[in-house]
Amino acid sequence: MHTAHLARAYGVMDQVMASNRRDSDRLRGAVVIYAAPALGKTTIATRYARDLHRKILRRYGPRTPEGQQRLPVVYLPLSAGTTLKGLNQKLLRFYGHPAATRSTRAELGSLAVDCVQACRTQLIIIDDLHFIDFKHRHGHEVSNHLKGLANEMPVTFMYVGVRLREKKFFDEGLLGEDAVYAQTSRRATRCEVAPFTHATTSGARAWSALLAALEAHVILADAHPGMLTDHAKLLAMRTQGCIGSLTNLLDRVCHLAIATGTETITRELITQVTIDNAAELSAGTA
Ligand SMILES: Nc1ncnc2c1ncn2[C@@H]1O[C@H](COP(=O)(O)OP(=O)(O)O)[C@@H](O)[C@H]1O
Ligand SMILES: [Mg+2]
Repeated sequence: MHTAHLARAYGVMDQVMASNRRDSDRLRGAVVIYAAPALGKTTIATRYARDLHRKILRRYGPRTPEGQQRLPVVYLPLSAGTTLKGLNQKLLRFYGHPAATRSTRAELGSLAVDCVQACRTQLIIIDDLHFIDFKHRHGHEVSNHLKGLANEMPVTFMYVGVRLREKKFFDEGLLGEDAVYAQTSRRATRCEVAPFTHATTSGARAWSALLAALEAHVILADAHPGMLTDHAKLLAMRTQGCIGSLTNLLDRVCHLAIATGTETITRELITQVTIDNAAELSAGTA
C-alpha cells in the first residue's frame, strides 16, 4: 500500500540519494529508518530498494561496462550478536564472493570495497540494526567500521531498526558530553515511522484511506465497499494503528468470514478475532 508514511520515507531517501550523487568524492550521508516493530520499516526499505534496483537496471542494463553483474542495492538483515567479521562476511556472501568464509578481518573489509565498486552498488541497507548493542565493545567496533566503510565506498547506507535512538546508535554508544563527538549523528538523516492514529482529523483520513485501499484487495463472496471503512474506529482500537497488526487481523478475519460462511467483514467478526499479543494487550488497557 502506498501509505503516507511510505511516501514520506521515499521523499527523505530520495533527497539523501540525490545529494549523494552530486559529489562522488565527498562523504555520503546515511538514512536511518526507525520505529516500533511491525510499522512497516522493512517493507519501506525493501520496496525502495526494489524500485531503485529496477530503475537502474532499466537505464544501464544488467552488466557493468567491465562485464560484472550490476547490483545497485545490497540488503543485509542482521542477526543477534553480529560482529564486525560477521558483518563483512554477510556482505561478501551477498555478492557470492568465494573468499567470504576464509579471509581475515582486514582482507574481508577490502574485498567488500572491491565488490561494491565492481558491481556499481549505490545503496546498502542494513536491517534489524537493533541487534547490535552500541554500548558494548562489539557494537562500538561495528559502528566505527560502518563509518569507515562509508568513507571508503561510494554508497549510501540505509540503517533500519527498532528504537535506534534509545540504543545509542546516533551517539555511537557514547554518553554525556562525549555524545557531541559522535559523527553518526551528523551524518545520518532520521526518518521515523509513526503508527496511524484515529484521534486527529488528518490521521483519521489517512487511516480510512488505508482501509479503503485494503478493502479493494479483499476477495469474499459478499464483499462490499465500506465493510472496513465503516469500522475504522474499532479497527484502530484493536490494532493501535499498527499496519502489521492490521494486515494480520485482516488475514484472520477473512479466514473467519469464509469458515463461518458470513463471506463479508462485520463488526462481530472483528471483535471475535484474536490477533497478536502486543495488539491484544494494548487494546485491553486502552
Ligand atoms: N505499506 C504497506 N502496505 C501493506 N502492508 C504493509 C505495509 N507496510 C507493512 N505492511 C504489513 O505489516 C507487516 C510488518 O511490516 P514490516 O515491514 O515487516 O515491519 P517492521 O520491519 O517495521 O517490523 C508486513 O508483513 C505487512 O503485512
Ligand atoms: Mg523488520
